[in-house]
Amino acid sequence: MNKIFVVCGLATLSAALAACGSDGGGDVSSSSSSSSSSSSSSSSSSSSSSSSSASSSSSGGADFTILSASFDANGSLPAEFSCEGKAFGDGISPELYWSDAPDNTKTYAISFKDLTALSGSNPSLGYHWVIWNIPESITLLPRNLSATRNPSEMGGAEQKSANISSPYKYFGPCPSYNYCSNGGHRDLHNYTFTIYALDQASIEHDGSVEDLDEYLGSIAIAKAEVRVNSDAAPLCGSSSSSSSSSSSSSSSSSSSSSSSSSSSSGGIDGAALYQSICSSCHGSLANSTKRGRTAQQIRAAMFWVDEVANLSDAELQAIEDALK
Ligand code: HEC
Repeated sequence: MNKIFVVCGLATLSAALAACGSDGGGDVSSSSSSSSSSSSSSSSSSSSSSSSSASSSSSGGADFTILSASFDANGSLPAEFSCEGKAFGDGISPELYWSDAPDNTKTYAISFKDLTALSGSNPSLGYHWVIWNIPESITLLPRNLSATRNPSEMGGAEQKSANISSPYKYFGPCPSYNYCSNGGHRDLHNYTFTIYALDQASIEHDGSVEDLDEYLGSIAIAKAEVRVNSDAAPLCGSSSSSSSSSSSSSSSSSSSSSSSSSSSSGGIDGAALYQSICSSCHGSLANSTKRGRTAQQIRAAMFWVDEVANLSDAELQAIEDALK
């Protein structure tokens, strides 16, 4: 595939700043309401039956609320819950708790989204993480939730991250992901933890985080959200010596086999380019999760990172060679 799936929710680039702090969001409606955003009125739902169309209000739920003990609503997210000072995608989950769901709630789901990205040019980047099939008896998600597909703390729930390098883990924000290469400029994004109350006992779904969020939102009998901001930036030069390799490195990996293509990259040090642009997110060249990728795949997947989008074909080719 090429159209980079849901990937990282991180960010719309630069321009998005303006939308921060306010209600920049795309899909989430009010901050706490009993009833799906779509239609109004109508019955108070049966149970399990409805699998597709939006259901609606029900008894209770008007005060359905989600809050966090780890951050202030509409405040800024502390560093431990984001990539701040760490690698892209890192950070532990904040604690969340909720109350006053509709009486006929059977399970909960929670999604974490970047509202600034959702309102930007590539909304698919706005979906970070979702956890669903949380039994109705559970009303708290712990700080530092286990990084497993079915975290035991959440009694049968299933989680999914849009960061495919760690698919079963909370995916912390990293809106200033290119901080290290853009002179230390930070982007501030607005995020939402949205909780859905569902009248279904169990939902089987194998889609992307985006698909899941849309589906869960469409069948929710009530929703509530809490918002928070982040301008988190990763640690620069983190993954292995980004400096050491910059000049002389071509020796090591880029030399291997390659054959044909190498000619076009003449003179460009693909290993050094990789190290300075890609390693903060994908690890050092030797341990890169992107070994074997082609220039074309990189071009298609990484359009959302300015530094990569701006690379010339020859530079990308040099990186492809280095990744062989
Ligand atoms: C800001 C962090 C970041 C930077 C910088 C970055 N990437 Fe990515 N990249 C991601 C994320 C997140 C994904 C989607 C999840 C994944 O595949 O790990 C991704 C996906 C990809 C993919 C598609 C998925 C796959 O495995 O084939 C390729 C190829 C890729 N990156 C290569 C690169 C290369 C090469 C560079 C440097 C020129 C680079 N990336 C720079 C974060 C980044």
